[in-house]
Amino acid sequence: MAAASGLLAGRVACITGAGSGLGRAIAERFASEGAIVVAQDIDAESAQQTVASLAGDGHLPTVGDVADEQAMLDVFAAISDRFGRIDVMVNNAGVDRLPGDGFDMVLRGEGPQITLMAHEAFSRMLAIHVTGTFTCTREAVRLMGDGGGSIITMSSIAGVAGWGPVHYSAAKGAILGFTRAAARELGPLGIRVNAIAPGAIDTPMTRSLPEGLLAPMVAMTPLRRLGRADEVAASALFLASDESSYMTGQCMSPNGGIVTT
Ligand SMILES: NC(=O)c1ccc[n+]([C@@H]2O[C@H](COP(=O)([O-])OP(=O)(O)OC[C@H]3O[C@@H](n4cnc5c(N)ncnc54)[C@H](O)[C@@H]3O)[C@@H](O)[C@H]2O)c1
Repeated sequence: MAAASGLLAGRVACITGAGSGLGRAIAERFASEGAIVVAQDIDAESAQQTVASLAGDGHLPTVGDVADEQAMLDVFAAISDRFGRIDVMVNNAGVDRLPGDGFDMVLRGEGPQITLMAHEAFSRMLAIHVTGTFTCTREAVRLMGDGGGSIITMSSIAGVAGWGPVHYSAAKGAILGFTRAAARELGPLGIRVNAIAPGAIDTPMTRSLPEGLLAPMVAMTPLRRLGRADEVAASALFLASDESSYMTGQCMSPNGGIVTT
């Protein structure tokens, strides 16, 4: 078998939430650049489907809730057994709505979402995005060798500029703080940590929103369209590869210009 070529040739890349949308697009782009992909998702079937769609051999589907520490320890034990290391970690898994978060009541005009949101919905949102990112980053760093590695976190313009409900925006903002602190801590080990903060991208998550919510956002976006998942995957490839070798603690925001920093 010929050796893999490409920007990520032979690198082991774990992507959470790889069964759909951005995670699947990142998995496909990474595999096309020679990476061996661990496609992690809470949904076993979609993780399997992603692996079946990837170029090259040796990819590994794994299942578990990123907010469940033991489930993630099991995932990283499986990665350790199979590959012995990780080179790239993409903390992408996430949701933008949860039962009890008041979203449906807001659509019916019943009040500001913060007054309708259950405590459990707020906590669960942070557990998935923030605690999940922490657990997976910790375990990935433990498996990164002397050559260092690249950690990518998935924020959002919700975290940068409040374009989202309070639980989601709080989680995505916390991810930026996590990214900056981890970059300072891990830089001396040759491990880079960077965030992506996409705008509204055409994925199953966005497609399930009421049309009336998206149209005004697109109208305010200078490029006047939703982004494509492959456009976010291009940012992820840049941050994962040596093309971004002097970047750490940064946030890339493929967002069509709706938020500028
Ligand atoms: N689509 C957008 O416009 C957009 C914009 C900014 C940020 N994001 C972020 O990008 C990431 C991916 O979003 P997407 O649009 O591809 O959504 P998506 O719903 O298409 O895919 C999300 C994937 O994550 C998985 N997942 C959900 N909860 C999980 C959990 N607890 N543990 C493991 N896997 C879990 C789902 O099963 C799904 O396969 C999310 O973090 C999202 O918040 C999306």
